[in-house]
Amino acid sequence: MSSLAKTVPLELLGRIDKLAQSTQPAMSLDDEEKATLTAKIKRLLKEKNAQMIAHYYVSDDLQALAEETGGKVADSLEMANFGAQSDADMLVVCGVRFMGETAKMLSPEKTVLMPDLNATCSLDESCPPKAFAEFCAQYPDHKVVVYANTSVEVKALADWVVTSGNALEIVTHLKEQGEKIIWAPDRHLGHWIEKETGVEMIRWQGHCIVHDEFQTYGLMELAKEHPDAKIIVHPESPAEVVDLADVVGSTRVMIEAVQNLPDQKFIVATDYGIFYKMQQLAPEKQLIVAPTGGKAGSCISCAHCPWMAMNGLQNLADCLENETGEIVIEESIRLKALQSVERMLTFSREKGLVKTNP
Ligand code: 13P
Ligand code: SF4
Repeated sequence: MSSLAKTVPLELLGRIDKLAQSTQPAMSLDDEEKATLTAKIKRLLKEKNAQMIAHYYVSDDLQALAEETGGKVADSLEMANFGAQSDADMLVVCGVRFMGETAKMLSPEKTVLMPDLNATCSLDESCPPKAFAEFCAQYPDHKVVVYANTSVEVKALADWVVTSGNALEIVTHLKEQGEKIIWAPDRHLGHWIEKETGVEMIRWQGHCIVHDEFQTYGLMELAKEHPDAKIIVHPESPAEVVDLADVVGSTRVMIEAVQNLPDQKFIVATDYGIFYKMQQLAPEKQLIVAPTGGKAGSCISCAHCPWMAMNGLQNLADCLENETGEIVIEESIRLKALQSVERMLTFSREKGLVKTNP
């Protein structure tokens, strides 16, 4: 298998860890404050013909509010699809920055806001556009496939964007066409795609600081304690953790596994924000969070993304009221990046991997 471990220099990894450590989670609120802010957000959404689009990793309050107000809670693929098909004038993306950028790319006529524009993603940060352009230039006969968890500038360098909800189908499609592939930025997801499709790719070596923390030994011990539990894992996790899984897939696939499998108990290796939706759809099932490096005292994520945690009711209300946190993308970059994103969405709609409006 290809290994380009030198591609993400240690200084950059150190900077990403510092960024994660410097994040401030959204402020905690009492019930009265929550009720006041919720009412205010509902009023503002109506007044501004705005819709919330939230990821499964944000707080229960935000997920509940998105659903109650006719918005969407979804994986990153369906978030992009929903935003593109929405007829709202304004989208408020509760998630991380690449999700807001994708929404803006697909809907330049809409105002796209985020509660906190500093909500980044370690995968996005691990793949600086200039270094990635130099990397791609070494393989001019390769198709460039990038994960959605990248900046608009990196997407502008790509032939295809994929998410974990369609990566296997898209790489298989490229394999059938005899294409050679550069993959970025998540090394673990890249490894899983290689294993599942049999395609060898030139891989960038980024990682998600949250999923990288899941521990193989701890998971094996937990599985011994709960022999009746199914193990479900997001493919951003290390290969040894993925190897222990009964089900591997996007956040949507993980939720569907809990909902549809006959088993009663699940060990879940992804951000624990996802438990809200799992529990809502399958209240009778028991969910156990997979162990992270937290036990060793070195964990900065502990199965919860520090950037997703920056989204809260207070900054959501503020951004809606003042129309701050707006995503702005330079038009020539947007048009370049749009091609690879639209290619992904068209493919996903044709294959029935996302919903299409009637
Ligand atoms: P999904 O596309 O599976 O929602 O994953 C996005 C993500 O950032 C997971 O860490
Ligand atoms: Fe990025 Fe990981 Fe957070 Fe997902 S969980 S947004 S991949 S840092």
